[in-house]
Amino acid sequence: MIVTTKKLFEAAYGKYAIGAYNINNLEQTMGLFRGCIDSKAPFIIQISKGARAYTHKKMLEGLITSANEVFPDAIFAVHLDHGDEESCYDCIDSGFYSSVMIDASHEPFEKNIEITRRVVDAAHAKGLVVEAELGQLGGVEEHVNVDEANAKLTDPRQAREFVERSGCDSLAVAIGTSHGAFKFTGTQGLHFEVLSAIQKELPGFPLVMHGSSSVPQDEVVRINAAGGKLLGAKGVDAGQFRMAATLGVTKINIDTDGRLVWTRVHREFFRDNPEQFDLRPIGKIFMAEYAKFIADKNDKLGSANQLDSVRTFLGQ
Ligand code: G3H
Ligand code: 13P
Ligand code: ZN
Repeated sequence: MIVTTKKLFEAAYGKYAIGAYNINNLEQTMGLFRGCIDSKAPFIIQISKGARAYTHKKMLEGLITSANEVFPDAIFAVHLDHGDEESCYDCIDSGFYSSVMIDASHEPFEKNIEITRRVVDAAHAKGLVVEAELGQLGGVEEHVNVDEANAKLTDPRQAREFVERSGCDSLAVAIGTSHGAFKFTGTQGLHFEVLSAIQKELPGFPLVMHGSSSVPQDEVVRINAAGGKLLGAKGVDAGQFRMAATLGVTKINIDTDGRLVWTRVHREFFRDNPEQFDLRPIGKIFMAEYAKFIADKNDKLGSANQLDSVRTFLGQ
């Protein structure tokens, strides 16, 4: 069942975070639904502009519609990840998405508000909800001084003004994470003091953490042992997800870790089975491994075993 992120956030706020997972193809979609059903978790499917352009934007809609029939117990939102104005309007008009992200975080404050407000008005008119972003994601390196570091992180006072004036329904905040497999060079981590200050300014308002893959070191070691070259890859400590949830984070974005699962499974399989050229045996292994990975993440996010409570919350 497709629901809005707003409903999922109301059910989760302060207790756990919902996993937001990017998909690009059939195997990821099957693994995602299987993993969320196995762990009894609500979830958010994210589709990026790149994913929509990978084959055809309608392909993923077809896969999700079918998965919704194959897994009738699933409760999830369908979300555009890192949209610009054009892709937001396209998704709003498609009638398929339940929420969009307008990412104008690279723009100056006033311009970010102006663009976000336009998308919010268009989305709300059609019953969709909007995630916006304030602050600069991207690793805050250890050598960067405090003033420089704070300039990149979300300013808590600006966050309140931004939400009030833009009308957005959730806010992605910059608290030290970054996208990809190389997030930290040293002992940096999440800035909980900034998150806590944002929550004080915006009590009860759903916050979003992008760039939250953990880049598990055992995964990196296995990939490198099978011919990969991921040197110095490092991610967010998944043990900190629960703390972030108590501070108002209701959505945690994970994409890179899923790509690492794909890379490890395929590298090891073809290293160990050089005579193989059939796509189905490896596809089956990948779907099973992906489902395990998703279930494990949901456990760490606290969203595992919440499906029944969400169903009750939704009055289903
Ligand atoms: O934050 C971006 C997501 O990881 C999606 O990546 O734009 O390569 O699909 P993508
Ligand atoms: P990761 O690169 O840490 O998986 O972040 C994904 C993300 O933020 C998608 O919007
Ligand atoms: Zn992101």
